[in-house]
Amino acid sequence: MRKTLLPLLGLAAHLSTVIISIHAGLATAVLENQTRQVVVFWGRHKDEGSIREACDSGMYTAVIMSFLNVYGRGEYHLDLSGHPLTAIGDDIKHCQLVGVNVSLSIRGNYDSLPSDQSAALDLLDHVWNAYLGGSLKGVRRPFGNAKLDGVDLFVERGTPAQHYAAGVLARELAKRSMRSGARKPVHLTATLPCAFVSRRRIDRGAAIKTGVFDSIHVRFYNSDDGHTDCSMYSEQVWDWWAAAFPSSRIYLGLPASPEAAKEGYLYPKSLYYGVLPVVQKAANYGGVMLWDRYYDKASNYSSYVKRWA
Ligand SMILES: *[C@@H]1O[C@H](CO)[C@@H](O)[C@H](O)[C@H]1NC(C)=O
Ligand SMILES: *[C@@H]1O[C@H](CO)[C@@H](O)[C@H](O)[C@H]1NC(C)=O
Ligand SMILES: *[C@@H]1O[C@H](CO)[C@@H](O)[C@H](O)[C@H]1NC(C)=O
Repeated sequence: MRKTLLPLLGLAAHLSTVIISIHAGLATAVLENQTRQVVVFWGRHKDEGSIREACDSGMYTAVIMSFLNVYGRGEYHLDLSGHPLTAIGDDIKHCQLVGVNVSLSIRGNYDSLPSDQSAALDLLDHVWNAYLGGSLKGVRRPFGNAKLDGVDLFVERGTPAQHYAAGVLARELAKRSMRSGARKPVHLTATLPCAFVSRRRIDRGAAIKTGVFDSIHVRFYNSDDGHTDCSMYSEQVWDWWAAAFPSSRIYLGLPASPEAAKEGYLYPKSLYYGVLPVVQKAANYGGVMLWDRYYDKASNYSSYVKRWA
């Protein structure tokens, strides 16, 4: 108990020092293009509290449930780390009522996202009928009649299959939500490793390049691809992203505490003075994405991010 508490207390003390010095007005960063959008991932830890509690914290503008795992051959599995499913439908509606968007993130295990038309349409049918506006008889809806606001594509590496699935999903979701006469279109986002884009390979993802995504969350942590150093935030890489996807809102994806990722954590001071003033220069800056609710609840990192994003 002691062992785990002490570093947390140390961190809390550190964080409050930062706040005091900022409030002392020594120097204030110029943040004039704030969007105040903070997106958090939820569903990776059973003891992170309910999604309703996350929405009621007032820290987030959107919550992304993770994950719907895709195994190929029409096999899907919703994995919310043991959160009881019964209450989630009502919790989702509650979140929407208090103005927080709720999406579901789809993760393919490496190459298992569909790379052909019929498999991609199969995935789309499943997501549409189980979580969105569809109501096909015989398809179980884990959250009952709650309808999610959006779908997120969580990509581990930039494989062609994943680009393909993204393109088909985006196109078909847009068509269906239009046909169904839904009041709001399905919000389509992608969460990508920062190394997905590099100076020479900006066009790796033809589907993704077409601007099908409303928002793109760029993971500036845990570099998982050798092409670009993405172990943490880099101004140059941020600029590549902002330039590569001018019609999507680009989010800065960060770990919510030093424990939340191997690399990439930014202390509030660096975030405020070093990083946000730079990323907010981009005309398509979207906000900040945090990984994840469990770590954020312990660190309270979003209490800074909420004010500065
Ligand atoms: C919430 O979702 C709607 C679509 O349902 C979208 O228009 C809006 O931009 C989303 N807002 C955020 C903060 O994600
Ligand atoms: C605000 O955004 C515009 C582009 O949209 C940019 O030219 C300007 O430098 C930004 N201001 C700051 C303080 O980042
Ligand atoms: C987190 O920050 C908020 C806003 O600054 C504050 O009200 C709350 O008490 C903090 N919670 C913890 C656990 O430190």
